[in-house]
Amino acid sequence: MLITFEGIDGSGKTTQISLLREKIEAFGRIVRVFREPGGTAVSEKIRLMLLDPEMDINPVSELLLFSAARSQLIASTVKPLLEQGAVVILDRFYDSTVAYQGYGRGAVALETLDRINTIASHGLEPDLTFYLKISRDTSKKRMQLDVSDRMEQSGDIFYQRVINGFDVLAAQLKRFRTVDAELDVALIHDQIWAQAREYLSR
Ligand code: TMP
Repeated sequence: MLITFEGIDGSGKTTQISLLREKIEAFGRIVRVFREPGGTAVSEKIRLMLLDPEMDINPVSELLLFSAARSQLIASTVKPLLEQGAVVILDRFYDSTVAYQGYGRGAVALETLDRINTIASHGLEPDLTFYLKISRDTSKKRMQLDVSDRMEQSGDIFYQRVINGFDVLAAQLKRFRTVDAELDVALIHDQIWAQAREYLSR
């Protein structure tokens, strides 16, 4: 089973993923967690390039770098784990590419982006996607103490487009579960666990 988490920076994905992981393990399943971009030696190197504020990266190159990092992680690690029956949780997947590179940057047409995403993910699709929705203002407040990476320096208009992209995906795709991530951590976790447990019990 593949579970993905999506949302803009500061939406609390990391915290919610570790809480969910504990619950699924207590449920008796093996759980592996990876972040995108990252999770393999090649993908972590690509991540460093993508997030380095000194790097001037054109939108199409950016799209292809995120895709290259993904292809490596999925083929070398995620697919084999799923075949062994593990539950894999991804901190971001190709919905981030649609929201950030598609809606945010306008790197290529959305139909083209879908084809690239299918190639880079080796045809893999999530079973469940939790979209942790927060406003741009909340994201900025939560990220205040962090040093901005290259993506986070992209500005308010970019982030509004990204939020809109996630909202469109949430309205279109049945696997999406939108969670109000402005709420308290424990409340958010309860909602996520209720939905994941229902799926795991099927
Ligand atoms: P993270 O900070 O959540 O680990 O994600 C790294 C940054 O990369 C974040 O700003 C979102 C961005 N990103 C994209 O723009 N496209 C993608 O396909 C992915 C996976 C992440």
